[in-house]
Amino acid sequence: MEQTQASAPGKIILFGEHAVVYGQPAIAAPVTQVRATVTIANSEPAGVRLIAPDLGKAYWLTEAQEHDPLARAVRLVEEATGSTLSQMTVTVRSTIPIASGLGSGAATAAALIRALTRHLSRQDLASDEQVCALAYEVEKIHHGTPSGIDNTVVAYEQPVYFVRQEPKNLIEPFAIAAPLHLLIADTGVRSATRHVVGDVRRQWQAERARFEEMFAACGRIAQAARTALEAGDVIQLGTLMDENQRWLEAMTVSSAELEKLIATARTAGALGAKLSGAGRGGNMIALVTPETQTSVRQALIKAGAFDVFASTVE
Ligand code: PMV
Repeated sequence: MEQTQASAPGKIILFGEHAVVYGQPAIAAPVTQVRATVTIANSEPAGVRLIAPDLGKAYWLTEAQEHDPLARAVRLVEEATGSTLSQMTVTVRSTIPIASGLGSGAATAAALIRALTRHLSRQDLASDEQVCALAYEVEKIHHGTPSGIDNTVVAYEQPVYFVRQEPKNLIEPFAIAAPLHLLIADTGVRSATRHVVGDVRRQWQAERARFEEMFAACGRIAQAARTALEAGDVIQLGTLMDENQRWLEAMTVSSAELEKLIATARTAGALGAKLSGAGRGGNMIALVTPETQTSVRQALIKAGAFDVFASTVE
């Protein structure tokens, strides 16, 4: 049986979430320990069968609900290739926790689009740039008004400096001078990006000047962070993470659970800590060193973190 497989990593936003929706620069990095993997196999029956064993789901493309992201991704590939697919099974597996800011939706879309375009021998549509563009269309289902940073970092699988702009987003994959040792801790609180992004929009509409100042401050932090990442200055990065967190709190996207973990990490020796992603739940990230990693991890678990894992960004 002919089979094609592709995968895409999880992601974290290091700097600039929310402000990125309003055109400010942001930095995201892949989290390669967790991945979405999609397998395409030729099969006998007519039609396209979509299977997500982890979610206990199996259904035909023609029966998919209107906003089903897997179906949307398949349809986008059909449109891009000008073909109607049949006699195919699409199996989706993922170790990326859902709705926690680790980009599971974007990674699943990118893996599916890459696997399917390769399976159809359309290498021209399987490039990072093309996968990124199609995955963006799927992201709209999850986010409403996505900035595009999630699909970009998972498609390129490299740290990226990203600016949402017309006619084309600025996407700059860049090299980090010294590996970043991060702990990613889950509050266990699920939070829908769409709602948080919508709430920030309402607040921005009510208080434009104040919110735009906050967004610009986050943009300046992201710019300074890029310089620090390229210089390997982890002390400065920790300070910038703390500063970014203060602005996110002012935007009301933090939460008591996030702040407890952030304070715990700092007290236990982290160089800096902040929420990552949409906020109001999901994950926080702490910048540590190989020396402090174990003690910070233990402190986070003791403070009630649902799950803590180490990720090195290189
Ligand atoms: O998918 P999340 O939860 O990591 O959030 C994405 C980051 C936001 O800036 C809040 C939204 C966006 O589209 O960039």
